[in-house]
Amino acid sequence: MQPRRLERAPAQALQRPAARPDGHPQWARDLVAESRAAKDAVAQHEAWRLMREATISRRLHQLMLVGFWPLVARFPDFLALNLLKTSHGRDEAINAARAWLARNLRSETRHAEWYLDWAAALGLARDAVLDGTPPVEMTAIADWCWRVCHAAPLPEAMAATNYAVEGVTGDWVRAVAASEVYRGQFAASERESAMRWLDAHADYDAAHPFEALDIIVRLLGPDPAPGRVAAVRAAVLKSYALYRTALDVAQTCAAAERA
Ligand SMILES: [Fe+2]
Repeated sequence: MQPRRLERAPAQALQRPAARPDGHPQWARDLVAESRAAKDAVAQHEAWRLMREATISRRLHQLMLVGFWPLVARFPDFLALNLLKTSHGRDEAINAARAWLARNLRSETRHAEWYLDWAAALGLARDAVLDGTPPVEMTAIADWCWRVCHAAPLPEAMAATNYAVEGVTGDWVRAVAASEVYRGQFAASERESAMRWLDAHADYDAAHPFEALDIIVRLLGPDPAPGRVAAVRAAVLKSYALYRTALDVAQTCAAAERA
């Protein structure tokens, strides 16, 4: 990518980017449309429905918390790996990515601890989460996020994590956090700490993933090579596929243990 040189970093490069899901170039709108089914397969997965309705088995509920712990715990690492790819000053798209990633990283400060609070309210001791050995199919998504953020260019890495993973997580979290029957299963004295991780992520603006896409569009420039667009699309689809695999395998394992 040819950096767009700037005399000075303009103030707008440091401001929150506009989220314009309908204002993106055609290739980005195609990406959203072509990946919608894979995204819906995650956001509308039966495991979240069982959770929302509070009919989920204790075993599946706990397995999901243990299985997604590496993804949650390492998410700030993924942001940091991407932040390392940015140097402020000469390219307005990179300036915007840097500011956005730094803000996102700051918001993660307490998230891992709140997730452990949620797990504790479900009867999971801290060590059971930290030392858990979930199926490898559940942790493959965290390994993939690490690899893409460590080794791939910034647009692919942000597409895999900030657009795909954070975007679809926001979708299912908002539905679970809005469920009164889910919230009501926790004793009043522990409800706030049990729900804090969910509530924090439900508060994420629905525009958040489109802000990430906006930055990806700016990073790739006005006329990206087809190969670069294909790499971004592949990264998005891989994140959704591994997310879905994790959910499918959690259900299969929990059902097998009960049988
Ligand atoms: Fe978070």
